[in-house]
Amino acid sequence: MPDADSPLEAKQYHQDILQKNTPFFLKGSGAYDWGMQNRLARVFRPDSGRAVMLAIDHGYFQGPTTGLERIDVDVLPLVPYVDALFVTRGIVRSVVPAMTQAPIWLRASGGPSILKELSDEEIALDMEDALRLNAVGVGVQVFIGGPFETKTVHNMTRLVDAGLRHGVPVLGVTAVGRELARDARYLGLACRIIAELGAQVVKTYYCDPDFDKVTAACPVPIVMAGGTKLPELAALEMAYNAIQGGAAGVDMGRNIFQSDSPIAMLRAVRKVVHENMPPREALELYETLRREHDPQPLVSAR
Ligand code: 5RP
Repeated sequence: MPDADSPLEAKQYHQDILQKNTPFFLKGSGAYDWGMQNRLARVFRPDSGRAVMLAIDHGYFQGPTTGLERIDVDVLPLVPYVDALFVTRGIVRSVVPAMTQAPIWLRASGGPSILKELSDEEIALDMEDALRLNAVGVGVQVFIGGPFETKTVHNMTRLVDAGLRHGVPVLGVTAVGRELARDARYLGLACRIIAELGAQVVKTYYCDPDFDKVTAACPVPIVMAGGTKLPELAALEMAYNAIQGGAAGVDMGRNIFQSDSPIAMLRAVRKVVHENMPPREALELYETLRREHDPQPLVSAR
């Protein structure tokens, strides 16, 4: 029976209000399909336009990395504070509870261990499995200038094609191997190639000077990789400078999970990324939160 709920004159059509098209907030991302934009908006907060991703995928080429020996014990408590977890499917299925609310961004390349040539990677994840795991994105190393440069670019472009079929964004990582410089000239080249060939997000290292030129010349959002462990203040300064230099977030690992107080560090990084908190203030916050999350054992007065 047609329209049995109420008479036509009781309905409210708001004919005086034009339906709006709301532009998508992320740089360079306005032309993607709904599912791709929705996945990105689950990671990059629409209010700040930024994201704090926690990278814990290191085991895929270097085994039980310091701080990640027991992800169930040491890392799961951090998960409520992340905008996304950058992680392998092995850890997702074996350790991360399916009740987790954190978006899962899957590592999708692999092959060589630290004992071999790192750029000799292959695609290590089928897009169908990423969908099965309800992933919001996949990530792949791209070794511009490395011995297997073309192969790693091709890994990425095949993932981009698969991702476009299913609405899954691809994070291309400017992987530097052991010997390549991390200056703006190199990183600008690598980020631009990765974006031109279709990655929806680029992950790269911070550089000084001219990180702002790297972000300006990259038409899609850049998230900053953390790199080796630094003192907390230096790591917070690096994150702050990257954000002020145009990064749309961070995907940090060791500078968070190898900190003396990983939750405190993660919460301080969130303030830097989402609220532009200056690094010294963020360090004070870190110290305060550290006492809350990791209180020092009482020392005997004797
Ligand atoms: C390696 C990766 C890792 O996920 C990530 O960069 C490692 O994080 P961090 O350097 O902050 O420990 O993509 O290239």
